[in-house]
Amino acid sequence: MADVNLAVIYYSSTGINYQMAKWAEEAGKEAGANVKVVKVPELAPEEAIASNPAWKEHYEATKDVPEATSDDIEWADAMLFSMPTRFGNLPAQMKQFLDTQGGLWANGKTVNKVVSGMTSAQNPHGGQEATVQSLYTSMAHWGAIIVPPGYTDQSIFAGGGNPYGTSATQGEDGKIAGDGVEGAVKHQTKRLVDVATRVKNGQ
Ligand SMILES: Cc1cc2nc3c(=O)[nH]c(=O)nc-3n(C[C@H](O)[C@H](O)[C@H](O)COP(=O)(O)O)c2cc1C
Repeated sequence: MADVNLAVIYYSSTGINYQMAKWAEEAGKEAGANVKVVKVPELAPEEAIASNPAWKEHYEATKDVPEATSDDIEWADAMLFSMPTRFGNLPAQMKQFLDTQGGLWANGKTVNKVVSGMTSAQNPHGGQEATVQSLYTSMAHWGAIIVPPGYTDQSIFAGGGNPYGTSATQGEDGKIAGDGVEGAVKHQTKRLVDVATRVKNGQ
């Protein structure tokens, strides 16, 4: 059976979605996939980043993470997207990345990619579900095969119970609240790799 290529494509200002992407990387490798973690390009001006110490610190700390390109999408059999909630929606940085894939889309290169999404927000009900569903709207246009976690594992309940995609809440200390998110991310990633393996190998 051919190994699955998994691209974990994320955006993160203050590190939550980066942490989720790193847990996904670990789980993807454990599941036998070839894994790439790539960040979408930052769009905010340097002054905006500099005005928020947590953002600035994370921006500097992840300067070496490669930026996502169309080639990563072509390479991937499976893609896991992770991004914070912005006013109940995708951050502009992720939207811009999706919106610059018209060439790939026009050539049928987004079809049958096996995809899933994760997010975070400051409030427990701050728009997480809407954000993941926004991603899935675009994925439908791509002809991608959307794999939500549903309630396929106990870890999903421990991670907050979002069946659309794992979602974290950022606590007052700037970190992920609770300790169930890691398990939910890892289950979602393994499930994605499992489904992508079946698709890739025609099972
Ligand atoms: C412009 C902006 C809009 C935001 N909108 C929301 C929101 O709608 N709901 C919410 O709970 N948190 C909102 N937040 C908080 C972020 O979602 C939260 O800080 C983020 O999930 C942290 O992820 P990161 O560390 O990966 O950047 C917003 C933050 C910013 C800067």
